[in-house]
Amino acid sequence: MSPQQASADLFARARAVSPGGVNSPVRAFRAVGGQPRFMASARGPYLTDVDGNEYVDLVASWGPMLLGHAHPEVIAAVADAAGRGTSFGTPSEPEVLLAEEIVGRTPVEMVRLVSSGTEATMSAIRLARGFTGRDVVVKFAGCYHGHVDSLLAEAGSGLATFAVPGTPGVPAVVTADTLVLPYNDREAVSAAFAEHGDRIACVITEAAAGNMGAVPPLPGFNQFLSETCRAHGALFISDEVMTGFRVSPSGQWGRDGAVEGWAPDLLTFGKVMGGGFPAAAFGGRREVMEMLSPTGPVYQAGTLSGNPVAATAGLTTLRLATDEVYATIDATAERLKTLVSDALAAEGVAHHVQGAGNLFSVFWGVTGQVDDYAGAQAQEGWRYRAFFHAMLDAGVHLPPSAFEAWFLSAAHDEEAVSRIAEALPVAARAAARATPED
Ligand SMILES: Cc1ncc(COP(=O)(O)O)c(C=O)c1O
Repeated sequence: MSPQQASADLFARARAVSPGGVNSPVRAFRAVGGQPRFMASARGPYLTDVDGNEYVDLVASWGPMLLGHAHPEVIAAVADAAGRGTSFGTPSEPEVLLAEEIVGRTPVEMVRLVSSGTEATMSAIRLARGFTGRDVVVKFAGCYHGHVDSLLAEAGSGLATFAVPGTPGVPAVVTADTLVLPYNDREAVSAAFAEHGDRIACVITEAAAGNMGAVPPLPGFNQFLSETCRAHGALFISDEVMTGFRVSPSGQWGRDGAVEGWAPDLLTFGKVMGGGFPAAAFGGRREVMEMLSPTGPVYQAGTLSGNPVAATAGLTTLRLATDEVYATIDATAERLKTLVSDALAAEGVAHHVQGAGNLFSVFWGVTGQVDDYAGAQAQEGWRYRAFFHAMLDAGVHLPPSAFEAWFLSAAHDEEAVSRIAEALPVAARAAARATPED
């Protein structure tokens, strides 16, 4: 590994002109310490930094790069689209094709394209409120839905009490209609509906939580949410920004709702469907979606929504994301889970590897399944700091926080997996020797 001089120089310049030197906080390495690597290029499963070091990438741009970086067919399609103009401000064919692809794969009947996952969840909530004529939103602790004001909320002092802002800058009045409940807790949901049922516009949940580490819904939990919402005239919003088109061709819904015979009222998508470009979407039943402007009264808009280059990148990615691609990623994920678990066990590090299909993460210092945010917070996150840096020094790029999922791509081949396997023993030893003071 070459010295990180070019990254260090860029980070110093970046900090002078951008808060913390980054444009999204987790990139700043605050949770693991040290300094972020500035990447210069990426191909297949690899990233190369500005000092010329190559890394096996297990972040995949936080999910979008399902096919690996710079997939030749995606790049060619994007170059072709860009050559015809980068934005028209009118309807264009790629956005119709992308919407048809999404409708074909998921339970939604109509979609609205937007530019980020945050915009998707924010708009879905507005739509749910407009459709139901109610204000209260139920969310779960540890689930992240982007930086939407009303969702940057922390649980109030009691179970069915309203939330307080989770960050300065969000007025208390904005979270006063948000209820934050423990994830996977049916009783808390039932209690909230018993007390506030006629005021609840929607329940929003990550389809499988990936932002407190990977915490899958307990069997039947999402169906329970769907049924509870229906019984009370509320809408069920399944946030598939992370899981959509990643954990199966039709996301987490393909793993539960499609099998069990239910569908959310609204779904939000992002990441994979943008193929590495800023594109996201929300969609649902026709009756609900037609409440949106211009067919209905609920206003929603965007200058770059359905951008032809982004839509082409997403469409090309989804068309290439065949059953075989998912089978490959799933198989690689299983191998990796075993490799990580064996390496940690060999060093006596208590841990639990868990997730939803190919989306997984490691919980440190726990002995069993983690089902909620309190469980996730109880882990020995400091062990991850040591593990993360040992992996990074050995050329494996993991998410810089124990509370993030690990992301694979179809480009992670034998060579990439064996590089990870070679790095694991030293990193596991580092995790075993770590102390909370490190
Ligand atoms: C489940 C979920 N919803 C929404 C978002 C927000 O998406 P974006 O970062 O594109 O605004 C994220 C981002 O990680 C996410 O994981």
